[in-house]
Amino acid sequence: MIIPKKNYKNLIKYSKYEINSMQPKILTGWKKAKDCHIWDFSNHKLIDFTSSIFVSNIGHSNSEFKKKIIKTLNSPISHSYNYFNYPRAEYTKSLIKFLNNKKLNKCYLLSSGTEALEATIKLMRLYGQRSKFSKEKNGIISIKGNWHGRTMGAQMLGGKTLQSSWIGFHDKNMFHLNFPYPWETSSKNSQKFFENSLKKCFKKKLNFKKRITGFILEAFQGWGAFFYPLEYIEAIKKFCKKNKILIAIDEMQSGFGRTGYKFLYEYYKLDPDIVCCGKAMGSGLPISGVISSSKIMNIPKIGDMSSTHSANPLVCSAGLATLEVIKKKKLVYRSKKLRMLFKKQLEKIQYSFPNLIKMINCKGLIAAIIFKDLKKIKGKEIADMVTTKCYENGLLVVNTGRESIKLGPPLIISRKLLLKSTKIIFDQIKKIQKYLKQHTKIFVQHKNIYSAL
Ligand SMILES: Cc1ncc(COP(=O)(O)O)c(C=O)c1O
Repeated sequence: MIIPKKNYKNLIKYSKYEINSMQPKILTGWKKAKDCHIWDFSNHKLIDFTSSIFVSNIGHSNSEFKKKIIKTLNSPISHSYNYFNYPRAEYTKSLIKFLNNKKLNKCYLLSSGTEALEATIKLMRLYGQRSKFSKEKNGIISIKGNWHGRTMGAQMLGGKTLQSSWIGFHDKNMFHLNFPYPWETSSKNSQKFFENSLKKCFKKKLNFKKRITGFILEAFQGWGAFFYPLEYIEAIKKFCKKNKILIAIDEMQSGFGRTGYKFLYEYYKLDPDIVCCGKAMGSGLPISGVISSSKIMNIPKIGDMSSTHSANPLVCSAGLATLEVIKKKKLVYRSKKLRMLFKKQLEKIQYSFPNLIKMINCKGLIAAIIFKDLKKIKGKEIADMVTTKCYENGLLVVNTGRESIKLGPPLIISRKLLLKSTKIIFDQIKKIQKYLKQHTKIFVQHKNIYSAL
């Protein structure tokens, strides 16, 4: 756990009645949040470069958003089980219209991202089992290291990791390909990379048409904001078309304008069969969704796929208000436009500290800085130091728990605040570099950089 210099240690008392795993990576609590700013329990003001983990694309406590949900809250209905309600009808129509894709004409609303992935696995398998090619068309291919959530199916999609070891068995119908990291493939050879990883994964030959029903990919790999080379996506498309395999894209982080597109599949020129979304969809209220075509969505029988809290009036109003703000403030366009400035500033940082930074990735208003493992200090420790120092100097970044930090401000951020934020990152990395040059030995001995800095 990262403990910023100010003494926040007493905050640990707040975890007394909670599961340990809910403790934050940075020991702090939020008192209030407005637009692009957060105030912590000590009234320390921070620029939010996390968008509350890519939820607050429209900014915190947006007044139009609040007005809309307060209106619903004050109306004489707070839940309608699976019976229709007006906000739900209005929202589903608006959501489908927002996607503006003839094929994606139906949605299934849920509460969390991980549920959307579970539902996707179910839909793909239900679809595959009706295939004319074989009743065993059950297999799902996904990509190692991608992140899809914490429930069993969703966690299985990320491949065998320490985090998924609790599952205790391997579903023989789930297959994992390697992620095309930039150091393993260039865009020119990414088709070959795809073919090789297929060969590696399927050592025993498999009739894909008869056995594989779906391919699920995270729109970009989260911890490093790694995007796929377009050729790699082309290879997936060709493979899936040839073998009658459905493609699902997990747009949990990338959706609703984050990358300068409504959804990242537009950039990839991918025509997905299923889109999974959540996070920014409700700007803080728990709503997620699976969006697909009638041919898939009409398969489950009434009652086979529903959930107590899905599509309740309040979350649907939140979804509706979110779409309205995105449209009114042209946030998709804004995110695309600000990318130039954001990328330029991050490149400046990268070129200024080539000994510390391995690479930066950026699209729209999502970026990652990936740190190098040095002889005496790991990239993860550098990332922790940058997180801490940024926090102390008024900027909250996403600490990925790995050798990277992730940056994703609300899409309403001004150019001025964006510049101020990247300057904080620059200044703190500069200080850390200086410190490391002078004190590497001390750091190695005491392992307590936070009090020393
Ligand atoms: C790409 C992706 N998919 C799925 C999820 C799971 O979403 P949730 O935490 O709402 O269950 C996340 C959450 O971080 C995510 O980033």
